[in-house]
Amino acid sequence: MWKSSEGWSMRHALMLSLALNVWLLLRLAHEREYNLGTDENFRGFCTEEKASSFLSNSTSNSSAIDEFDDDQGRVINLDHGDPTMYESYWRQAGDKTTVVISGWQAMSYFSDVRNICWFLEPELAKEVIRLHKIVGNAVTEGRHIVAGTGSTQLFQAALYALSYGGTEPISVVSATPYYSFYRQVVEYMKSGLYKWAGDASSFNEDKPYIELITSPNNPDGFMRQPVVNRSKGMLVHDFAYYWPQYTPITSPADHDIMLFTVSKCTGHAGMRIGWALVKDEEIARRMTKYIELSSIGVSKDSQFRAAKIVKAVSDSCEHAYDSNFFEVSYHVMSQRWSRLRDAVKKSGMFSTPKFPPAFCKYSNRTFGTQPAFAWLKCEGDIEDCESFLRDHKILTRSGKHFGMSPKYVRISMLDQDSNYDLFTKRLSAMRS
Ligand SMILES: Cc1ncc(COP(=O)(O)O)c(C=O)c1O
Repeated sequence: MWKSSEGWSMRHALMLSLALNVWLLLRLAHEREYNLGTDENFRGFCTEEKASSFLSNSTSNSSAIDEFDDDQGRVINLDHGDPTMYESYWRQAGDKTTVVISGWQAMSYFSDVRNICWFLEPELAKEVIRLHKIVGNAVTEGRHIVAGTGSTQLFQAALYALSYGGTEPISVVSATPYYSFYRQVVEYMKSGLYKWAGDASSFNEDKPYIELITSPNNPDGFMRQPVVNRSKGMLVHDFAYYWPQYTPITSPADHDIMLFTVSKCTGHAGMRIGWALVKDEEIARRMTKYIELSSIGVSKDSQFRAAKIVKAVSDSCEHAYDSNFFEVSYHVMSQRWSRLRDAVKKSGMFSTPKFPPAFCKYSNRTFGTQPAFAWLKCEGDIEDCESFLRDHKILTRSGKHFGMSPKYVRISMLDQDSNYDLFTKRLSAMRS
């Protein structure tokens, strides 16, 4: 009786294990197809989650992490620039930024029909102008403000507005290493109005083009100027990181189309609010049209919340020193960068860019850019830095996604303290 029941359960256990293994293999094959099937360069916002759950269940890399005695080889995902670092500041700010919206409020599509951007909440417009004036990072006089669902939507609205009416798709360029999402979005959209034409530094056609300039740049953190400089060029300046916690504010930016976002300014990426400062009325109208066609405006609830958060930042700059948002964030970034540089030095396997100091007119201090991303290079024989770090359970984004060599990776500097601590600890322990 005992024997037969043991035989029965052994057979079942074997069959169960076989079935589980087959299922696991099929699942991995499916995920691989899903992740790489369309375009190897495409890194959507969810694929890394799959990678991290795969890694955390996997035992195949265990030898690589045996040398670490930290947090049981926890996977650290620094692939995205998810700004969760800011959570602790806003937690401490308490109810100052709580927004209550009753069921009967904010029901209409419209916010201000007299404005070109008819879905822009006047309160958000007011607070955006106030913040730019306090920080001194952009000219707002004589500009139209266009709100967007993040600056991701605004960058697409700008491409639409600038390429509208052309006879053939206009080239979109950005100097390498460029923000990887620009290319992904342009290629994914397959628009008849514009096409991805790659590195701005090698663009030499005598035709109209759109150049995207990110300053400070994502991924490498350097301040940037246009590089093509031809007469038929149209420029879009992405200033997601032109805020005083990241870089010295040397003068108010003054360009035709300037994009900003709360995602990297206050850390509220989930709110999905960005704004464009646009000089030309017709371009502002077309950008508004694009947003009308793609989402009939921008969430009012989010705009109310954004207005409240931006107001709290401005208030903190005007009334408080110890809880001044940019001061607090500046010091967090400064500490993080000095810890990263220490870790890089200790390990001897990597290098990071050096940024020249400049005087910040907002904070009255001189410092070098301390970017939201570290552009790390694996020195020596390591050709694929992303895989190397992945074996140490650190997820980053390879240089190849930014039009550069896989010897580079981009690492988010905006993650939570516990992840950042673990990351620098692991990095400093690595030896060639
Ligand atoms: C340069 C740059 N522009 C735009 C964005 C996206 O901003 P948003 O969250 O407002 O869409 C990012 C996000 O990482 C970025 O790095």
